[in-house]
Amino acid sequence: MAEPIALFGGKPTLAKEAHKKWPDVSEEQRRAILRVLDRGVLSGSNAPECVAFEEEFADYVGAKHALLTHSGTSALHLALAAAGISAGDHVIVPAYSFVATPLAVLHAGAIPIFVDVDEATGLIDPKEVESLITKKTRAVMPVHVHGCSADLGALLQISARRGIMVIEDAAQAHGATWNGKPVGPLGKAGGFSLQSSKNLGAGEGGVFVTNDDAIAEEANRLRNFGQNVALSDRAAFDGDRPLDALRGMDSSRIGWMYRGNELGAAFARTALEKLPELTRLCRENADWLSKELAKLPGVLPQPTPEGATSVHHKYRVRLDPKAAGLDIAPRTLRDLMIKALRAEGLEIVLWQGAPLPAQPTFITREGFGGGFPWSLDRETDFGSLYALSRFQRTQRLLDSSLLLFSQSCPLIAQPASVVHEYAKAFARVWEARAELAQSAVRAASATNGSGEARA
Ligand SMILES: Cc1ncc(COP(=O)(O)O)c(C=O)c1O
Repeated sequence: MAEPIALFGGKPTLAKEAHKKWPDVSEEQRRAILRVLDRGVLSGSNAPECVAFEEEFADYVGAKHALLTHSGTSALHLALAAAGISAGDHVIVPAYSFVATPLAVLHAGAIPIFVDVDEATGLIDPKEVESLITKKTRAVMPVHVHGCSADLGALLQISARRGIMVIEDAAQAHGATWNGKPVGPLGKAGGFSLQSSKNLGAGEGGVFVTNDDAIAEEANRLRNFGQNVALSDRAAFDGDRPLDALRGMDSSRIGWMYRGNELGAAFARTALEKLPELTRLCRENADWLSKELAKLPGVLPQPTPEGATSVHHKYRVRLDPKAAGLDIAPRTLRDLMIKALRAEGLEIVLWQGAPLPAQPTFITREGFGGGFPWSLDRETDFGSLYALSRFQRTQRLLDSSLLLFSQSCPLIAQPASVVHEYAKAFARVWEARAELAQSAVRAASATNGSGEARA
């Protein structure tokens, strides 16, 4: 008789310690930090590591300008504000993302308008975007979620036809491409995150990118308190008196202190050197895993749409109970699989459990106080626009899927041997799915006598 799965008393497939943790701090990174400490220049947007990182990152994503910020959220906020988004404007964002996407819109005083996503990929659906455009819409903010490029071709066409901007949330997508071009600077402006879990992690940090000179100058002023600084000030930077370089001190519009930090920049530079090779291996592992999992009936690894590439920052798998021959609800199957796969030693997370408009910030719409910025718009019925019934594909995607690997141990950190064990464990648990489903039906009958686990 085959050994039972770990949840039913068998030996787990994988030991927790087999995972590689992320970020994988190298000797070179330690040396890079010491180099900064020895130099003694620890801050300033024109400090040497910051400027060198910006040039190297701009080159990596094919952008004319890259500016280091202290987070991905601040990079996105800068992108919106520098591109001219202002109080009361509507910005269309996907209902499936991290909350920082709509928060960046709110920070700009603008109003996020949520749109449902494609159920198979989790990416923004351009057709739905078009149907939501009104005279108040100034921009759409696609999210290259999981590290996979959104359909920028369609969105840029809509942008040209309807006169709205594309501002890319590329927080998870360093090196992903659309039609062979790296995402981030393909619209008006974009933002990346350097938070530790990301494929390019530096503790905390972000990068604003654009190909537009005027937007880059404005973003640079906005990340420096709205002061009258210029990118050309770099030439006058004095490493011997780094805090006393010439700089305009008058603030001419509301800005923020969003500069990046020198230690993080040095760390990020060495991580960036390793990124192309790590991304190549990560893609190889993801493709192999997807091929293996797709052999199992009812298991649907995330597809990469035509024209796009993914850097697989997150790895999502959908489960279809019907195709798997099971008469249980998708959410029940998902929860059973989470339990069973975790018992096998796998890192499994949900990341998001509901469409973004389900979060209290968007239900109460208290905003900055007195309902600002929603209070600027008395014509729009936000109660109906934010109703969860409008985001059924997002909800179905989240109810029927789980993420393999975690923030602390993402796919990019894992050797092929660990990825192979994931495929083995998944197949082992899937083989026992009928038994798993029965256990859920039995448990439901025991608690409420209804057998409610059924679909
Ligand atoms: C899609 C998305 N947008 C924005 C952000 C915000 O980045 P940060 O956490 O660096 O502010 C994140 C990061 O977690 C993200 O995943």
